[in-house]
Amino acid sequence: MRVVKTTSELREALNKSADLSIRRVLVPTMGALHQGHLELIKRARQDAGASGTVMVSIFVNPIQFDRANDLDAYPRPIESDLEKCVAAGVDVVFLPDASSMYHADRSVTVTESLLSSGLCGASRPGHFDGVCTVVLKLILLTGCHSAVFGEKDFQQLAIIRRMVRDLDVPVEILPCPTVRESDGLAMSSRNVRLNHEERADAPRIQRALVTAAERRDAAEMLAAARADIESSPLARIDYLLLVDAETLQPTADLKRPAILAAAVFYGDVRLIDHVMIAGC
Ligand code: PAF
Repeated sequence: MRVVKTTSELREALNKSADLSIRRVLVPTMGALHQGHLELIKRARQDAGASGTVMVSIFVNPIQFDRANDLDAYPRPIESDLEKCVAAGVDVVFLPDASSMYHADRSVTVTESLLSSGLCGASRPGHFDGVCTVVLKLILLTGCHSAVFGEKDFQQLAIIRRMVRDLDVPVEILPCPTVRESDGLAMSSRNVRLNHEERADAPRIQRALVTAAERRDAAEMLAAARADIESSPLARIDYLLLVDAETLQPTADLKRPAILAAAVFYGDVRLIDHVMIAGC
Protein backbone atom coordinates (compact mmCIF):
# COMPACT_ATOMS: atom_id res chain seq x y z
CA MET A 1 0.00 0.00 0.00
CA ARG A 2 1.29 3.45 -0.88
CA VAL A 3 0.65 6.47 1.36
CA VAL A 4 0.89 9.89 -0.32
CA LYS A 5 0.65 13.14 1.57
CA THR A 6 0.59 15.98 -0.92
CA THR A 7 -1.31 16.71 -4.10
CA SER A 8 1.93 16.74 -6.13
CA GLU A 9 2.98 13.34 -4.73
CA LEU A 10 -0.47 12.03 -5.59
CA ARG A 11 -0.23 13.33 -9.19
CA GLU A 12 3.20 11.75 -9.51
CA ALA A 13 2.01 8.40 -8.11
CA LEU A 14 -0.98 8.37 -10.45
CA ASN A 15 1.00 9.52 -13.51
CA LYS A 16 3.32 6.55 -13.07
CA SER A 17 0.34 4.21 -13.37
CA ALA A 18 -1.48 6.25 -15.99
CA ASP A 19 -2.96 3.21 -17.75
CA LEU A 20 -6.50 4.45 -18.37
CA SER A 21 -7.85 0.93 -18.71
CA ILE A 22 -7.10 0.32 -15.02
CA ARG A 23 -10.17 1.26 -13.01
CA ARG A 24 -9.54 3.70 -10.16
CA VAL A 25 -12.08 3.77 -7.37
CA LEU A 26 -12.05 6.38 -4.62
CA VAL A 27 -13.40 6.08 -1.08
CA PRO A 28 -13.37 9.59 0.40
CA THR A 29 -13.24 9.56 4.23
CA MET A 30 -12.35 11.73 7.18
CA GLY A 31 -10.63 8.79 8.87
CA ALA A 32 -11.49 7.20 12.23
CA LEU A 33 -12.34 4.20 10.07
CA HIS A 34 -14.97 1.74 11.31
CA GLN A 35 -16.80 -1.25 9.84
CA GLY A 36 -18.97 1.12 7.79
CA HIS A 37 -15.89 2.44 5.98
CA LEU A 38 -14.60 -1.11 5.49
CA GLU A 39 -17.85 -1.90 3.65
CA LEU A 40 -17.23 1.15 1.42
CA ILE A 41 -13.76 -0.20 0.69
CA LYS A 42 -15.21 -3.66 -0.12
CA ARG A 43 -17.65 -2.03 -2.54
CA ALA A 44 -14.74 -0.13 -4.07
CA ARG A 45 -12.77 -3.35 -4.60
CA GLN A 46 -15.80 -5.03 -6.20
CA ASP A 47 -15.98 -2.15 -8.66
CA ALA A 48 -12.21 -1.91 -9.25
CA GLY A 49 -11.70 -5.64 -9.69
CA ALA A 50 -8.51 -7.40 -8.60
CA SER A 51 -6.33 -5.40 -11.01
CA GLY A 52 -7.96 -2.01 -10.36
CA THR A 53 -6.74 0.63 -7.92
CA VAL A 54 -8.64 1.29 -4.68
CA MET A 55 -7.81 4.69 -3.22
CA VAL A 56 -8.87 5.93 0.21
CA SER A 57 -8.56 9.60 1.09
CA ILE A 58 -8.27 10.48 4.77
CA PHE A 59 -8.78 14.18 5.30
CA VAL A 60 -10.65 15.94 8.11
CA ASN A 61 -11.91 18.68 5.84
CA PRO A 62 -11.89 21.92 7.87
CA ILE A 63 -14.20 23.82 5.50
CA GLN A 64 -17.15 21.47 6.10
CA PHE A 65 -17.20 22.02 9.88
CA ASP A 66 -19.52 24.71 11.19
CA ARG A 67 -18.43 24.31 14.84
CA ALA A 68 -14.77 24.69 15.81
CA ASN A 69 -15.16 22.29 18.76
CA ASP A 70 -16.52 19.58 16.43
CA LEU A 71 -13.48 19.98 14.15
CA ASP A 72 -11.04 19.92 17.09
CA ALA A 73 -12.72 16.92 18.70
CA TYR A 74 -12.96 14.90 15.48
CA PRO A 75 -11.00 11.67 16.14
CA ARG A 76 -7.76 11.22 14.15
CA PRO A 77 -6.34 7.72 14.85
CA ILE A 78 -4.04 7.75 11.82
CA GLU A 79 -1.90 4.71 12.69
CA SER A 80 -4.84 2.40 13.20
CA ASP A 81 -6.57 3.82 10.10
CA LEU A 82 -3.53 2.94 8.00
CA GLU A 83 -3.42 -0.58 9.49
CA LYS A 84 -7.10 -1.04 8.62
CA CYS A 85 -6.44 0.14 5.06
CA VAL A 86 -3.59 -2.36 4.66
CA ALA A 87 -5.77 -5.19 6.02
CA ALA A 88 -8.62 -4.16 3.70
CA GLY A 89 -6.37 -4.35 0.63
CA VAL A 90 -6.32 -0.63 -0.20
CA ASP A 91 -3.74 0.30 -2.86
CA VAL A 92 -3.26 4.03 -2.23
CA VAL A 93 -4.04 6.21 0.79
CA PHE A 94 -4.14 9.95 0.19
CA LEU A 95 -3.45 11.69 3.48
CA PRO A 96 -3.08 15.41 2.80
CA ASP A 97 -2.97 18.22 5.33
CA ALA A 98 -5.12 21.33 4.98
CA SER A 99 -2.32 23.47 3.55
CA SER A 100 -1.75 20.95 0.78
CA MET A 101 -5.47 20.88 -0.11
CA TYR A 102 -6.32 24.58 0.16
CA HIS A 103 -4.51 27.73 -0.92
CA ALA A 104 -4.53 30.31 1.87
CA ASP A 105 -6.34 32.76 -0.44
CA ARG A 106 -8.69 30.22 -2.10
CA SER A 107 -11.80 31.89 -3.47
CA VAL A 108 -13.78 29.20 -5.29
CA THR A 109 -16.44 27.10 -3.58
CA VAL A 110 -18.95 24.64 -5.04
CA THR A 111 -22.51 25.35 -3.88
CA GLU A 112 -25.58 23.16 -4.35
CA SER A 113 -28.62 25.27 -3.62
CA LEU A 114 -31.75 23.09 -3.51
CA LEU A 115 -31.13 19.71 -1.88
CA SER A 116 -28.82 21.29 0.68
CA SER A 117 -31.31 23.91 1.87
CA GLY A 118 -32.88 21.82 4.65
CA LEU A 119 -31.97 19.03 7.09
CA CYS A 120 -28.22 19.13 7.89
CA GLY A 121 -27.78 22.03 5.47
CA ALA A 122 -30.08 24.22 7.57
CA SER A 123 -28.46 23.21 10.88
CA ARG A 124 -24.90 23.40 9.59
CA PRO A 125 -24.47 26.51 7.40
CA GLY A 126 -21.77 26.06 4.76
CA HIS A 127 -21.37 22.35 5.51
CA PHE A 128 -22.39 21.08 2.08
CA ASP A 129 -20.39 23.78 0.27
CA GLY A 130 -17.37 22.36 2.09
CA VAL A 131 -18.34 18.78 1.22
CA CYS A 132 -18.99 19.53 -2.48
CA THR A 133 -15.78 21.51 -2.80
CA VAL A 134 -13.57 18.84 -1.24
CA VAL A 135 -15.28 15.94 -3.02
CA LEU A 136 -14.92 17.63 -6.42
CA LYS A 137 -11.25 18.33 -5.66
CA LEU A 138 -10.66 14.71 -4.60
CA ILE A 139 -12.35 13.40 -7.76
CA LEU A 140 -10.23 15.70 -9.94
CA LEU A 141 -6.99 14.98 -8.07
CA THR A 142 -7.40 11.21 -8.16
CA GLY A 143 -8.94 11.01 -11.64
CA CYS A 144 -11.14 8.23 -10.24
CA HIS A 145 -13.66 6.42 -12.46
CA SER A 146 -16.01 5.90 -9.53
CA ALA A 147 -16.38 7.00 -5.91
CA VAL A 148 -18.19 5.26 -3.06
CA PHE A 149 -20.43 7.00 -0.48
CA GLY A 150 -22.49 5.65 2.43
CA GLU A 151 -26.28 5.87 2.35
CA LYS A 152 -26.27 6.88 6.03
CA ASP A 153 -25.46 10.41 4.86
CA PHE A 154 -28.35 10.33 2.39
CA GLN A 155 -28.43 14.11 1.98
CA GLN A 156 -24.71 14.19 1.21
CA LEU A 157 -25.15 11.35 -1.31
CA ALA A 158 -28.05 13.14 -3.04
CA ILE A 159 -26.12 16.43 -3.21
CA ILE A 160 -22.99 14.78 -4.60
CA ARG A 161 -25.06 12.99 -7.25
CA ARG A 162 -26.64 16.33 -8.15
CA MET A 163 -23.23 18.03 -8.35
CA VAL A 164 -21.90 15.28 -10.61
CA ARG A 165 -25.01 15.50 -12.82
CA ASP A 166 -25.14 19.29 -13.04
CA LEU A 167 -21.40 19.83 -13.57
CA ASP A 168 -20.94 16.78 -15.88
CA VAL A 169 -18.24 15.38 -13.63
CA PRO A 170 -17.03 12.18 -15.33
CA VAL A 171 -17.37 9.84 -12.36
CA GLU A 172 -19.80 7.14 -11.29
CA ILE A 173 -21.20 7.51 -7.76
CA LEU A 174 -21.66 4.17 -5.98
CA PRO A 175 -23.92 4.08 -2.90
CA CYS A 176 -23.33 1.65 -0.04
CA PRO A 177 -25.97 0.65 2.58
CA THR A 178 -25.77 1.95 6.18
CA VAL A 179 -23.87 -0.35 8.54
CA ARG A 180 -25.23 -0.66 12.09
CA GLU A 181 -23.94 -1.83 15.46
CA SER A 182 -25.71 -4.94 16.81
CA ASP A 183 -28.06 -2.69 18.83
CA GLY A 184 -29.08 -0.74 15.72
CA LEU A 185 -27.01 2.42 16.17
CA ALA A 186 -25.75 3.60 12.77
CA MET A 187 -21.96 3.40 12.66
CA SER A 188 -20.29 6.80 12.77
CA SER A 189 -16.84 8.08 13.62
CA ARG A 190 -18.57 10.30 16.20
CA ASN A 191 -19.92 7.33 18.21
CA VAL A 192 -16.59 6.99 20.08
CA ARG A 193 -17.20 10.43 21.59
CA LEU A 194 -20.38 9.29 23.38
CA ASN A 195 -20.01 8.50 27.08
CA HIS A 196 -21.26 5.18 28.42
CA GLU A 197 -24.82 6.37 29.18
CA GLU A 198 -25.15 8.24 25.89
CA ARG A 199 -23.89 5.24 23.90
CA ALA A 200 -26.42 2.99 25.66
CA ASP A 201 -29.25 5.43 24.91
CA ALA A 202 -28.36 6.34 21.31
CA PRO A 203 -29.97 3.29 19.57
CA ARG A 204 -33.30 4.88 20.53
CA ILE A 205 -32.92 7.18 17.51
CA GLN A 206 -33.25 4.35 15.03
CA ARG A 207 -35.90 2.53 17.11
CA ALA A 208 -37.98 5.71 17.30
CA LEU A 209 -37.76 6.31 13.55
CA VAL A 210 -38.52 2.71 12.58
CA THR A 211 -41.50 2.46 14.96
CA ALA A 212 -42.92 5.85 13.93
CA ALA A 213 -42.52 5.01 10.24
CA GLU A 214 -45.24 2.38 10.59
CA ARG A 215 -47.87 5.15 11.04
CA ARG A 216 -49.80 6.08 7.94
CA ASP A 217 -50.19 9.78 8.78
CA ALA A 218 -47.28 12.22 8.50
CA ALA A 219 -48.14 14.37 11.55
CA GLU A 220 -48.68 11.29 13.73
CA MET A 221 -45.40 9.83 12.47
CA LEU A 222 -43.44 12.95 13.42
CA ALA A 223 -45.20 13.29 16.79
CA ALA A 224 -44.53 9.64 17.69
CA ALA A 225 -40.83 9.84 16.80
CA ARG A 226 -40.45 13.14 18.68
CA ALA A 227 -42.14 11.80 21.82
CA ASP A 228 -39.96 8.70 21.76
CA ILE A 229 -36.66 10.58 21.34
CA GLU A 230 -37.60 13.34 23.79
CA SER A 231 -38.46 10.78 26.46
CA SER A 232 -34.69 10.48 26.95
CA PRO A 233 -33.17 13.17 29.19
CA LEU A 234 -29.88 12.72 27.31
CA ALA A 235 -31.14 13.33 23.78
CA ARG A 236 -31.81 16.75 22.25
CA ILE A 237 -33.41 16.89 18.80
CA ASP A 238 -31.68 19.15 16.30
CA TYR A 239 -34.18 18.31 13.56
CA LEU A 240 -36.81 15.67 12.95
CA LEU A 241 -38.35 15.88 9.50
CA LEU A 242 -40.29 13.95 6.91
CA VAL A 243 -38.93 14.88 3.48
CA ASP A 244 -39.66 13.88 -0.09
CA ALA A 245 -37.08 11.26 -1.13
CA GLU A 246 -36.27 13.07 -4.38
CA THR A 247 -36.39 16.80 -3.56
CA LEU A 248 -35.51 16.46 0.16
CA GLN A 249 -38.13 19.16 0.85
CA PRO A 250 -40.54 18.69 3.80
CA THR A 251 -43.64 16.73 2.84
CA ALA A 252 -46.78 15.26 4.37
CA ASP A 253 -47.47 13.16 1.28
CA LEU A 254 -47.00 9.50 2.10
CA LYS A 255 -48.07 8.41 -1.39
CA ARG A 256 -44.60 9.28 -2.70
CA PRO A 257 -41.33 7.80 -1.37
CA ALA A 258 -40.23 9.82 1.65
CA ILE A 259 -37.51 9.83 4.29
CA LEU A 260 -38.05 10.25 8.02
CA ALA A 261 -34.79 11.81 9.20
CA ALA A 262 -33.38 13.01 12.50
CA ALA A 263 -30.31 14.71 13.87
CA VAL A 264 -29.96 14.35 17.62
CA PHE A 265 -27.42 15.80 20.02
CA TYR A 266 -25.99 13.76 22.88
CA GLY A 267 -23.98 16.39 24.73
CA ASP A 268 -22.10 18.07 21.90
CA VAL A 269 -22.05 14.94 19.73
CA ARG A 270 -24.51 15.18 16.87
CA LEU A 271 -25.80 11.91 15.41
CA ILE A 272 -27.93 11.48 12.28
CA ASP A 273 -30.14 8.65 11.11
CA HIS A 274 -33.11 8.07 8.83
CA VAL A 275 -35.59 5.51 7.53
CA MET A 276 -36.92 5.26 3.98
CA ILE A 277 -40.68 5.17 3.58
CA ALA A 278 -41.93 3.55 0.38
CA GLY A 279 -44.79 5.50 -1.17
CA CYS A 280 -48.19 3.74 -1.21
O1 PAF B 1 -18.73 11.63 4.63
C1 PAF B 1 -17.60 12.09 4.93
O2 PAF B 1 -16.84 11.48 5.67
C2 PAF B 1 -17.17 13.44 4.36
O3 PAF B 1 -18.23 14.32 4.28
C3 PAF B 1 -16.46 13.32 3.00
C4 PAF B 1 -17.38 12.77 1.92
C5 PAF B 1 -15.25 12.42 3.14
C6 PAF B 1 -15.98 14.71 2.53
O4 PAF B 1 -15.07 15.26 3.44
